[in-house]
Amino acid sequence: MIQIVQMEPGAYRYLKQHGNYADGTMLSLSFYNTQEKPSPAVDGVVQKDLASFEIHILDREKYSDKRAFFLFQNGDNTAGMIPKGNACIDCHEKDAEYDGTFVQFYPVLRDRLLPEGL
Ligand code: HEC
Repeated sequence: MIQIVQMEPGAYRYLKQHGNYADGTMLSLSFYNTQEKPSPAVDGVVQKDLASFEIHILDREKYSDKRAFFLFQNGDNTAGMIPKGNACIDCHEKDAEYDGTFVQFYPVLRDRLLPEGL
């Protein structure tokens, strides 16, 4: 699968300006299946259809965990918040290097937000 992370542009501008996430910042992670025989043939893989996507909202005021996670599957366009104490929060808080987000994989933000870069 190909995974694509996106952040709402206003939230990204705020992050670059202030060096922290605004309450209400929303990130998405989309999972795309890959084409078996793309035309023209390419080295590597290209996107096919959307398989599922996930949303991560950061909000210190609204959520006691400071964040909430949502999983959209099977073409759903609504999803309930995954209840507290879930694996999403555990992994993001343990392994993500900047406020529960994986900034360590993104060079522009990594250089700006992580003290040592990488
Ligand atoms: C075992 C670790 C792990 C678990 C469990 C996990 N994630 Fe993630 N998540 C990651 C990693 C690693 C990335 C970075 C992916 C990338 O940048 O390509 C990520 C990125 C994301 C992003 C986009 C950017 C960000 O950093 O927030 C969203 C949204 C997301 N995950 C939602 C979820 C949801 C919803 C769940 C639970 C259903 C979940 N994740 C569970 C490891 C995890």
